[in-house]
Amino acid sequence: MSDVEIRRGLRNVYIDTTEASFVDGQVGKLLYRGYNIHDLAEKSTFEEVIYLLLYGDLPTRSQLGELDATLRAHRAVPDDVIQVLRLVKNSHPMDALRTGVSAMSAFDEEVEDNSEEATIRKGIRLTAQAPTIVAAHHRIRNGLEPVPPNSSLNHAGNFLYMLSGAEPDLETQKLMDVDFILHAEHSSNASAFGARVTASTLSDLHSAVVTGIGVLKGPWHGGAAEEVMKMASEIGQPENAEDYARNILDNGGRIMGFGHRVYKAEDPRARHLRERSQTLGETMGQPHWFQILRYLEEKTMVPYRSRGIFVNVDFFAGSIYHLLGIPSDLFIPIFALGRIPGWTLQCVEQYGDNILLRPLLDYQGPMDLEYVPIEQRG
Ligand code: CMC
Repeated sequence: MSDVEIRRGLRNVYIDTTEASFVDGQVGKLLYRGYNIHDLAEKSTFEEVIYLLLYGDLPTRSQLGELDATLRAHRAVPDDVIQVLRLVKNSHPMDALRTGVSAMSAFDEEVEDNSEEATIRKGIRLTAQAPTIVAAHHRIRNGLEPVPPNSSLNHAGNFLYMLSGAEPDLETQKLMDVDFILHAEHSSNASAFGARVTASTLSDLHSAVVTGIGVLKGPWHGGAAEEVMKMASEIGQPENAEDYARNILDNGGRIMGFGHRVYKAEDPRARHLRERSQTLGETMGQPHWFQILRYLEEKTMVPYRSRGIFVNVDFFAGSIYHLLGIPSDLFIPIFALGRIPGWTLQCVEQYGDNILLRPLLDYQGPMDLEYVPIEQRG
């Protein structure tokens, strides 16, 4: 046994300081650049939150107008990237997004410039382009032609428009806008940490965002919303929820959308999605999705609260997307679309005071074995 101290999973390890977001997991508090997530979800827009994150404070009207115009101007992606998406049309949308962002690096003249100014400009362009990649891939895989961006719509509205070809109503746009706000930044979560590791080698922002997308894909991170909706579909009706969940839990499994490495109280982002999931379900005459989820939250998982396991941001998100007619494999890419500003900011911070992120592993294998030539091995 070696006597090194191992912090498995980097649990409770601080790797640096940040001005991006503050998370108090004990009380369930989240601030972006000092502003409470509840205020931002209720009063702000995703465009304003992008500005807040990347430039450090809420914008004036003219600053917001300028950023908004830049986002709208950079939504289109080159035809060559659309061709790449055609080649990977059968892949999971998250893989297609990863490939599309990677391909975009070939068309960004500032790709190798890691200065703060260039990194922010690239982050804004990627934020603008990524919805086009997701929507184009989704249409191509359904045998449809991509819909060009519509510069008269805001960021959220344009994404929904490019997906379906129809302009969404204002309420639906607002739902997607709030969803993007809630996902925009979350301190040293696994994907932001992954992006920082990439940036810490002085690799470029596109590479860091590709890393972030790859890390986010897993069901223990961004993939949970897709898994929650799969579970809700299998449960079917609220009265089946208890048996279904019991079967998972009694066999040592996990209920997706519950638990968090940092939050030991309710994830503050969940509140906004819970309310919207209920209202949307009732409006659309499909209240059973919310009832199934609520059953799990209010009955099955209640004993887990004493262990700090509450719903997280992903628990109600999937039901909203589903009610909006969005297929479940687009849930993770939607999370990624919201998170690009956060990854960008984390990379700006990393480049700004860089240190190579390079932890240690305690070797536990055999030592000093004698090399035996292949012809002498049994
Ligand atoms: N259902 C049932 N039990 C759970 C759950 C769950 N969802 N989450 C954690 N536990 C149990 C776990 O089995 C373990 O029990 P024991 O001590 O008996 O072995 C205990 O709680 C501690 O779990 P852990 O894996 O050590 O905790 P962690 O901090 O490493 O895990 C987590 C965090 C998010 C990976 C985990 O809670 C989980 O797998 N949740 C389900 C997946 C999910 O919803 N992910 C989305 C996270 S929020 C969005 C994001 O930012 O990515």
